[in-house]
Amino acid sequence: MFLERWSPRAMNGEPLTEGQLQQVFEAARWAPSSGNSQPWRFLYAVQGTPGFEGLFGLLADGNKVWCRRAGALVLVLATTRDARGNALPTSAFDTGAAWMALALQARALGLVAHGMAGFDAPRARAELQVPEEAQVLCMVALGHPGDPAQLPEKLRDREVPNDRQAVETFIAQGAFPEGWKR
Ligand SMILES: Cc1cc2nc3c(=O)[nH]c(=O)nc-3n(C[C@H](O)[C@H](O)[C@H](O)COP(=O)(O)O)c2cc1C
Repeated sequence: MFLERWSPRAMNGEPLTEGQLQQVFEAARWAPSSGNSQPWRFLYAVQGTPGFEGLFGLLADGNKVWCRRAGALVLVLATTRDARGNALPTSAFDTGAAWMALALQARALGLVAHGMAGFDAPRARAELQVPEEAQVLCMVALGHPGDPAQLPEKLRDREVPNDRQAVETFIAQGAFPEGWKR
C-alpha cells in the first residue's frame, strides 16, 4: 500500500465524480486527531467549474503545466482553534494524517493524488476568505491517470516512483543526534 502510492503528474483531464470525491474525503474523515478535534478542512473544485479556475490560478507556473489536466483541485487547511477558542497545537499534524488517508484512498481507487506547496498561500487566504485561525497548508491535485507522453520532456523523465533515505537516518534512541542538527 505504501509503495504503491506515489505522485504522478500525468492526468487525463476528466473531472472527478461526486462518488470519487466522496470516497477520498470519507477516508480523510477517519484520520486520528488530538482529542478527536478533526481540524482538517478541504476547499475543493472540480475540473470544468469556475471554482477550478480559481484554485488553478493560485498555482505556481511549474505546477500549472501539469495540473491543467487534473480532475479536481483541493486546498488543504487546518483550523488551529476548537469551537471554544482553545488552541489546537497538533492541527497540522492531524491534517497531515488526513491528507495521507485521502492519498492512499485515491490510489486504491486508481486515481492520482499529488500534493503541492507550490501555490500562493496568502492569495488563497485572501481570495477564499480564510479566517486568521485557519492555516493554509497545501494544495492537492486529484485526477484520473493520463498518458505521460503528454507531459513536457523534463517532467516525463520524472514520472516514476522515487526513493527514500534508509530508516537508520531518521531514527535514534536517546537525545537528538548531533548529526541531525544541520
Ligand atoms: C507538502 C507537499 C508539497 C509538495 N509540493 C509539490 C509541488 O509544489 N510540486 C510538485 O510537483 N510536487 C510537490 N510535491 C510532491 C513531492 O515532491 C513528492 O511527494 C515527493 O518527491 C515524494 O515522491 P512520491 O510522492 O512520488 O513518493 C509535494 C508533496 C508534499 C507532501
